[in-house]
Amino acid sequence: MVESSTMRADALLVRYGYCTRREAAARLHAGSVRRKDGTLITSPALHVEPREVLIDGREIPFPDGMYIALHKPIGYVCSHAEESGSKRIFELLPTEWERRHPSLECVGRLDKDTSGLLLLSDNGIFVHRLTSPRQHVTKVYSFETTSPVPVEAVALFMSGTLMLRGEKTPCLPAKLELTDLTHGRLRIEEGRYHQVRRMLAAVGAPIVRLHREAVGALELDTLRLVPGEWCNFDPTVFEHGRE
Ligand code: URA
Repeated sequence: MVESSTMRADALLVRYGYCTRREAAARLHAGSVRRKDGTLITSPALHVEPREVLIDGREIPFPDGMYIALHKPIGYVCSHAEESGSKRIFELLPTEWERRHPSLECVGRLDKDTSGLLLLSDNGIFVHRLTSPRQHVTKVYSFETTSPVPVEAVALFMSGTLMLRGEKTPCLPAKLELTDLTHGRLRIEEGRYHQVRRMLAAVGAPIVRLHREAVGALELDTLRLVPGEWCNFDPTVFEHGRE
């Protein structure tokens, strides 16, 4: 948890992404911040508790830390940078969230052409823990390929000997299930760059459709999110022994 505690009113507006430090005094003078009992807070230096204030009449969402599950649609990039010209996943979330400090980060990115379950959090320790291969958090992907996947790939992926071009260590054992010649499901415990596409390409079966179905115990189907929709999740589902 990123605990909230009392803080200056101007720092609170900046912390939760409502404005920059420069704009905070004007925002307070304009009457944006009130306690829940109705008292107006106009002094930037006044200490307030995030759970006890309303900003423009609304509670601050997730004041103790954000744990967001998003159904990422195809065509969106997992980047804060705006220069790429691509649509960004942050455009699917309330605008203040991207300006929060600490910032909201993806827990393992998905490619622009990959859809499915994407987790985001502003808790750096949580993000680091979930993305570390040592934690063995299983990611489940369904895929379609342009050419048949050789059945030998099942044993090769499970063997932990598959070397991807440019890598110094082999991929950890991964479970491949084939539903037919060009469709299947892959379970991996790492998150190397374009890993699933590169693994299938390495056995001569380039991917045309890739979708992440689950991360650990969180399954997109159970969350019932349509593409572009998000919800919050309980981070304790990732505590040891609960996955
Ligand atoms: N592997 C990939 O190749 N792409 C993704 O988006 C995720 C895993």
